[in-house]
Amino acid sequence: MNPWPAIDGIAYGGDYNPEQWPRATWEEDVALMREAGVNLVSVGMFSWGLLEVREGIFDFSWMDELFDLLHSHGVSVDLGTPTASPPAWFFAQYPDARQVTRDGTVMGFGSRGMAAHSSPEYRRAIVRVADALAERYAQHPAVVMWHVHNEYGVPVGEDYSPRSAAAFRAWLQRRYGSLEALNAAWGTAVWGQHYEEWEHVAVPAVAPSVVNPAQRLDFVRFTDEQIRECFVLERDAIRRHSDKPVTTNFMANQHWGSDLWKWAAEVDLVSDDHYLVAADPEAHIGLAIAADLTRSVGGGKPWMLMEHSTSGVNWQPRNVAKRPGEMARNSLAHVGRGSDAVLFFQWRAARHGQEKFHSAMLPHAGKDSRVFREVVELGRTLKRIDAIRGTRVLADVAVLWDFESFWAQDLEWRPSEDLSHQEQVRAYYERLWRDNITVDFALPSHDLSRYRLVVVPSQYLLRAEDAANLNRYVEQGGTLVVSYFAAVVDEHDAVHPGGFMRPLEPSLGVWVEEHLPLREDDAMTLSWTHDSHHQLSADMWAEDLVVTDADVVAHYVDGPGAGKPAITRNQHGSGTAWYVSTRLDADSLAHVMSAVYADAGVAPATLPEGVEVVTRHGDSGTYVVAINHADEAADLTIRGNDLLSGDNAEGTFRLPGGSVAVVRTVNEDTHPDRGPGQ
Ligand code: GAL
Repeated sequence: MNPWPAIDGIAYGGDYNPEQWPRATWEEDVALMREAGVNLVSVGMFSWGLLEVREGIFDFSWMDELFDLLHSHGVSVDLGTPTASPPAWFFAQYPDARQVTRDGTVMGFGSRGMAAHSSPEYRRAIVRVADALAERYAQHPAVVMWHVHNEYGVPVGEDYSPRSAAAFRAWLQRRYGSLEALNAAWGTAVWGQHYEEWEHVAVPAVAPSVVNPAQRLDFVRFTDEQIRECFVLERDAIRRHSDKPVTTNFMANQHWGSDLWKWAAEVDLVSDDHYLVAADPEAHIGLAIAADLTRSVGGGKPWMLMEHSTSGVNWQPRNVAKRPGEMARNSLAHVGRGSDAVLFFQWRAARHGQEKFHSAMLPHAGKDSRVFREVVELGRTLKRIDAIRGTRVLADVAVLWDFESFWAQDLEWRPSEDLSHQEQVRAYYERLWRDNITVDFALPSHDLSRYRLVVVPSQYLLRAEDAANLNRYVEQGGTLVVSYFAAVVDEHDAVHPGGFMRPLEPSLGVWVEEHLPLREDDAMTLSWTHDSHHQLSADMWAEDLVVTDADVVAHYVDGPGAGKPAITRNQHGSGTAWYVSTRLDADSLAHVMSAVYADAGVAPATLPEGVEVVTRHGDSGTYVVAINHADEAADLTIRGNDLLSGDNAEGTFRLPGGSVAVVRTVNEDTHPDRGPGQ
C-alpha cells in the first residue's frame, strides 16, 4: 500500500463540520474551498450521533450527499471515525461504559471524550461504526484516507472504572506471570502492600498518601496500551474494506500520555495536531520540537500536519490572535520540518457551542477578512513549493525523548518539585535551535551510530540495556551529553544498585553520590576548572559527583556542592561523554554546548537573530526553508531560486521581517553520506 493518500499537491484544508450548518452553506463552502486551493478536508470525527442515530440504525444520507458535493468540486475526504464522542443513546444504554477519574468521579455527558477504553460495549460499538463507515465509503472516490478517532487520550486517558480495574489485573497477570514477580517488581514490601490474591490488586486510585510509583507507572503503560488497542480494533475494521491509509492525529509536545514511538508503528502515516502556546513569546520553538518529534517517530518520512490554527484558539487562558504572516510562518515551519500537509482546525468558524471563539480558515467575518485573504495566499504558496513533497530532513544530532522516563519522573515525591523534563528538553533543544542545528528525537534503545552528537536532557528512567547502548555509542566514537537527574531508576522506578547513574558510569566516568536540590530562588556560581576567570551561572539543582575517570571541566564555587565537580568530560573508547549536573542558565549552556560541538564535529550556523532555517533533501533538489520570525529584514547567504518570489538568490539573500522563503538551493549538500532520520 502507498502510505500517502492520493492528493494532488501538498494537502491543504482542515477539519470540516458541515453537520453544524444548513445545506445552503455547503454550496458556499465548496466554492470558497476552491478559491482557497483546499484539496483535503477531515470529516465526521464528532458526528456519531448523526450517523448511528440509534444502536445499529445508520443514517448516511447527509454524508452521501456531502461526499458527492465535495468530490464534484475536487475536494478529497479524510474520513474520520466518530469514536471520540459517543452518542447520548450509548451512555444511556451502557452507563457502566462511562470513564471514572482517579478520585472516583463518573464522567457526565454533553462534552466529548471517549468512553471507558476497557468497556466491551464501547469496543463493540466502535468496531461497528468504523466497519459501517468503511463498508459504505471504501469505494467512494472522494475518500482518500481514514482518520480514526480524535487525539487519543485527550482530554481524559486514565480510567479508574471497575471495567478498567479488571482489565488492569489481567494485563498485570500477562506481564508478570505470578504475584511473586509482581510483588518483587513493585517493591510491595514497602508500606505493607504485599499481595496474596490477584483480586486485591487494584487501580491506583486516590489513597490516603502517595501510591506506589511502580504501580502508577504500570497503570500509565496499561492505559496507553488499552487505548492503542481501541485504535487497532477500528483500524482493522477499516482495513477489511479499504486499502487506503489510516492515521490518527497525535499531539506531539502537547500531550505526554501516548507513547508516540509505539503509536507510530501502528498507523500507515503519522499525523499531528499542533497549537501554539500563546503565553510563550517564542512559541515557534515549541512548534519546532513538535514537528521534529512527529517526523522522528514516523521514521523520517513525510508526515501530515493534521490541525493547527489560522489565528487564536479558544481554550488557553489568553488566546492571542496570530499576527499577519504568522499563520504562513507556522505552516511553512512544519513543512520545513517534514510535513507534506498544512491542515487546520477548522474550515468554517462554528456559530454554536464550545468552540465558537476558535479561529478558522473562514472566520465569522466571512471571506472579506484578513484571515481568509491569508488563507487564499497560503494556498497559492503551497502550490509554488509543491516540488518539496517527498523530500527528507536530515539530522546529525539526536535528542533523546523517552515517554516512559517522562511518565516516571512526573510521579510524586521526587527530590525537587522544580525538576521538569519539559523544561530540560526545551533548554537543550532551544540551544540547538538557536545554533541552527537540526535534530531528530530518538529513544535510548535506538541505533544512534548515525549521529555525531546525542543529547540526553531528561533520562530519569533508564533501563540497564539502554544504558549499555549509550555507553557503546560513545565507545564507538559518538559524543554524548547527559544532563542532571539521569539514569536514576530502572523500568520499575527502582533506584539502580550502587548509587545514582551507575549504569552510565562506564562512558561518563562519574556517578552521583547524593542529590543536592536548592531552595526556590537560590542560585549558584560555577567556575571553569582550567580558567577560574570564566564563571557559569546555575540554579535549582546540584549533585555530589564521584569522579572515577572523567576530567572535571567546571566545579561549584558556592551552593550545596561548593568545591565539588559540576561538569565533567570523559574520553571513552573513541568517543567523548559529557555530564552536566546542574541547571545552567542559557548563556552558560551555550558556552558548554560550544565545547560539546567541537568534540562532536558539529558546526553551528550563525544566522541573524530570529531566523530559522531548515533544509529538506531529495531527488528533486535541496530546499532551504528560511523563516524570519523577527520584524527586521535579515541577510542570508544562500544560492538558488526562491520558489515563492521567483527571485534568484545569488549569495546574499534579503529576507524581509516576518517572511518566509523556500529556496531550491545549489549550495552543497552538507549531509551527502547520511541516511534519513530515525
Ligand atoms: C484539537 C481538537 C479539535 C479542536 C481543536 C481546537 O485538540 O482535535 O477538535 O477542538 O483542538 O484547538
